[in-house]
Formats: sequence, structure tokens, C-alpha cells
Amino acid sequence: MDGITGLRDKYLTAIAAAEGETALEEVRLAALGKKGEVSGLMRSLGGMTAEERQTAGPALNLLKDDLTEALGAARARLADAALDARLATEWRDVTLAGRPAAQGTVHPVSQVTEEIVAIFADLGFSVAEGPQVESDWYNFDALNIPPEHPARQDHDTFYMARAGGDNRPPHVLRTHTSPVQIRAMESQGAPIRVIAPGRVYRADYDQTHTPMFHQVEGLCIDRDVSMANLKWVLEEFCRAFFEVDGVELKFRASHFPFTEPSAEVDIRCSWAGGQLRIGEGDDWLEILGSGMVHPKVLRAAGVDPDEWQGFAFGMGIDRLAMLKYGIPDLRAFFDSDLRWLRHYGFAALDVPTLQAGISR
Ligand code: DAH
Repeated sequence: MDGITGLRDKYLTAIAAAEGETALEEVRLAALGKKGEVSGLMRSLGGMTAEERQTAGPALNLLKDDLTEALGAARARLADAALDARLATEWRDVTLAGRPAAQGTVHPVSQVTEEIVAIFADLGFSVAEGPQVESDWYNFDALNIPPEHPARQDHDTFYMARAGGDNRPPHVLRTHTSPVQIRAMESQGAPIRVIAPGRVYRADYDQTHTPMFHQVEGLCIDRDVSMANLKWVLEEFCRAFFEVDGVELKFRASHFPFTEPSAEVDIRCSWAGGQLRIGEGDDWLEILGSGMVHPKVLRAAGVDPDEWQGFAFGMGIDRLAMLKYGIPDLRAFFDSDLRWLRHYGFAALDVPTLQAGISR
């Protein structure tokens, strides 16, 4: 009997001290396994007298039950401790902000428009807007393009339909952003410094022309604004936009009905190895039209040309995007092909940078 009490103490202590599943299993085998100490005693019951067996049998059974129960409790305790330890290291802070899932991209036209607006805003220009369905007056006449003027033919204009019997000239889808010059001067007067980015339309379709495209107009009117200011502003713009310090522009005499004198502006570039580089090489690429606003245009917009003068310019936004980001085909801009959009699109957080190039 004393032996049995000794065994109970020994194994209950061992069970309590076991620090892991393996240690516990070793204790179980030592006591209750086939070759275990308690099992050995159970086997020895057969060699005892009936009397001895009567006391030893129940005592051994009780010992076996007690140890089994203690082992179960210990196993549960170890499992709880293991779970607590895992929970302590693997917890998640469910209040943390989620990771943003990238969805869609910013279209190159939107990106470039924002870049242009940012650069001109830094030069003191604000943004003006006008309608895309424009009257014949704003799109042509007010810009010194009378009905019989050949420039009307050049524009491949889309005309809106008039009701039968209505003989007024039809509205048009604006062929350029220049009419916004007139609207801005009408509503703000002079002095004025605005740019007007937006959609324009012409019936034309090939690798570099689409029926809808984007232009940005610039207008700066004050008492003593000259061609020199125009040159400086455009050079500053190109330096910042193309992120090239040594941009070189060539002002080539040209003709537009709404400016006098007029100049088309070419930028120095190289096509070495089939790759376009702005600011180096011996090629010239036309990027915009410009000039001193014609007195007739000022008058049409209610601004006195004897008191005010200034410059205007217009350039293609899509073309600028193609040049800056090396996108070869304009038509793909408007195909909504997801592969193209993912390739050429910008991440929402790609904020346009203002290049250090702007100097005052
Ligand atoms: N409106 C012209 C076009 O669509 C571009 C242009 C040329 C705009 C000269 C101007 C300018 O403001 O002064 O081709």
C-alpha cells in the first residue's frame, strides 16, 4: 500500500511538472505504458493470494484512474497555455487602416492636363472654361475668322443640326479652345491671365489625329505685355513640363487670323536611335501656335485694343503627352483598352511635380 501511495505522489508530481506534450507523454509511458511501472504492478496481481489481491486490486485501479485523470487535466492545461502563447504573438490590430487596393489608373491626358495647370498656376494663370458645343460666333467670327475665310475649311468642323426652316448658322463642336479666350475676356475683362484646357473636335482620323482631342489655350492681356513675355512664358513652361533645363525653342513666323504677328513654336529634339529626346539634337518639332492677340479679337470680346494688348497660344495636350511619355499612337488614347491604360496610366498618388527649372 505504501508503495502505491509513493507511486501516486511520484507520478502526480511528474505530471504537474511536465512542461510540454512530449514530457507528459513520457510520464504516461513510464506509469501506464505497456512496460510502465503501474502496468507492471497490475500484471503482478495474478501472482498474489486472493487476500492480497482484494486490497491491492482496487487500490491499483484507483491509482490508474487518478493518474489518467491527472494526465487529461494536464493535457488540457498545456493546450490552453499553448493557445494563449499563440494569441499573444499572433494578434492582429483590426483597427489599423487597410492597404489600398490599386483600382484603375489616371489617364495620360488627365495627368498631363494636371501638370500643365500646375505649371501655369505657378506662373499666375488661372483656369477658364467654355462649352464644347459652341456658337459659330465664338468659334470663328469673334476670332476674326469670317464665314468665307479659308481657315473655316481647314478645321474639318462638325456642325450641329438646326431645325428645318431655321436659317441661323449652325452651332459647331468647337474646333479649338480659342473661343474660351473670348468668353473669358467677356466675363473677366482686362487685365487677364488664363489657360483653358479642354476637348475639341475635328473630322480627322489617323495615327496622330482623332475626331476628339485636347488643347490648352493660353491668354495674357495687360497694358504692356509683349512678344518677349510670350517667349519667356513658353520657355519656362517647356523647361518645367519636359523637365529639361536646356530646352531651346524656335519661333517661326506664321499666320493665324486671331493673332498678329503670329508664330509657330518648334522645340529642339533628337530622334537618335528612334527615341525622342527633347532639348538635344538637330531636329525641330512643332508644338504650338501663338502670337499677339489681334485688335479685332480684343474688340469682339469687349476689350479696348488702344488700352490693352497681350499674347495667346494654343497647343495639343495629347501631343504633349505623346512626346513626354513616348506614346506612339494617338488613337490608342481613346480605345479604353485596359492593357494600354495599365501600361501608360498613372497611379492616383503620382502628383505632378513642379520641376525646379522654374526661375523668377
Ligand atoms: N487655335 C489654333 C489651332 O487650333 C491654335 C492657336 C494658335 C491658338 C495661335 C492661339 C494662337 O491662341 O494664338 O490650331
